[in-house]
Amino acid sequence: MSGEARKTAAGLSYLTGFGNEHASEAVPGALPEGRNSPQRAPLGLYAEQLSGSAFTEPRAHNRRSWLYRIRPSAAHPVFTRTDNGALRTAPFTESVPDPNRLRWNPLPEPPVGTDFLAGLWTLGGNGDAAQRTGMAVHLYHANSSMERVFSDADGELLIVPERGGLLLHTEFGRLQVEPAHVALVPRGVRFRVELLDESARGYVCENYGAPFRLPDLGPIGANGLANARDFRAPVAAYEEAAGPVEVVNKFCGNLWAATYDHSPLDVVAWHGNHVPYVYDLRRFNVIGSISYDHPDPSVFTVLTSPSDTPGLAGVDFVVFAPRWLVGEDTFRPPYFHRNVMSEYMGLIEGAYDAKAEGFVPGGGSLHNMMSAHGPDRETFDRASTAELTPQKIDDGLAFMFETRWPVTLTPHAAGADHLQPCYDDVWRGLEPHFRA
Ligand SMILES: [Fe+2]
Repeated sequence: MSGEARKTAAGLSYLTGFGNEHASEAVPGALPEGRNSPQRAPLGLYAEQLSGSAFTEPRAHNRRSWLYRIRPSAAHPVFTRTDNGALRTAPFTESVPDPNRLRWNPLPEPPVGTDFLAGLWTLGGNGDAAQRTGMAVHLYHANSSMERVFSDADGELLIVPERGGLLLHTEFGRLQVEPAHVALVPRGVRFRVELLDESARGYVCENYGAPFRLPDLGPIGANGLANARDFRAPVAAYEEAAGPVEVVNKFCGNLWAATYDHSPLDVVAWHGNHVPYVYDLRRFNVIGSISYDHPDPSVFTVLTSPSDTPGLAGVDFVVFAPRWLVGEDTFRPPYFHRNVMSEYMGLIEGAYDAKAEGFVPGGGSLHNMMSAHGPDRETFDRASTAELTPQKIDDGLAFMFETRWPVTLTPHAAGADHLQPCYDDVWRGLEPHFRA
């Protein structure tokens, strides 16, 4: 049995750092008025706080939600270790960091019956989950809906579908996530992934550090990039099913499982700001140059996880969305560069304007700290001689997880059959044109 939603929570303005509250109840009267933990919560529910930040963090960074649920989360049996599959966690110490430019084709088809959790495949990452620093890049390929429920104590999960819709059944309610959307499941929030198509494929950034938030806008002003009102939270919905439910908890890199006698997705009402959400990347308001040159790709930042150094993100999520190019006397594709940050790029649909071929939807590339990269020869030749009329880039949706630390690969990513053997070749044939 599921509860019907009554209140809608949408437009997560807390992402701008002002701590706004959101609330939803599946049954009228389930939310207590005026206090978080009354002597007796309404409708015989249990009140429970879920903290996503330390109690004492500054108000602008404080994340917590109050859940009003049929059973308290504490009522659970013992967790025991279960198979980690191809899921790996920082610190990544099984390989040495690789300075080479690397590119992968999409993950191969998984065995029949692979759910989202079993379909997670870790490419690599950095930091240390137990120290709550760094991030991991995962891909997923699934062909079966989850019967079990998952939660990640190690970090929040930014899910970037590339193929196939997902219905996330979370403690806070349901979120439908299609390709070109992203969804975020906060640290510790339980959820189950139902596939809306025969199979599902995509990317996940597991962020061990500070929760993602919207970047500051500086001189851009009060509007632009991703607008807070477009981030949508679920409405409350609960499950009251009896019977065994496997609950898997990722904790300091390992999966632990317990069999409950009820669904832990039994929250009837909630309020707070530690909340899952979905965002449609097509809502991104792209800002760019209307004179010459083009801004650094940081201007395409959707969400940022700040670190202890201002402006230096643990990880940024950046989207290369459809946009007009109008720069005069400008090399319009991404320029050649070497970056102190490390860049993992994926492609959701279409093509990417810096690569003629080889970078395909579902694939990905890694340009680690200070590795030299940029347009391939074909793109360079074309863009250097193109007539610079206004041009709409509208045939692709690419993204980047950009992180302050180098990404170390898992052994299975370094040795994968779908790792392209000759990625360096895209920069062959860039002849010198110098004339003294
Ligand atoms: Fe780059």
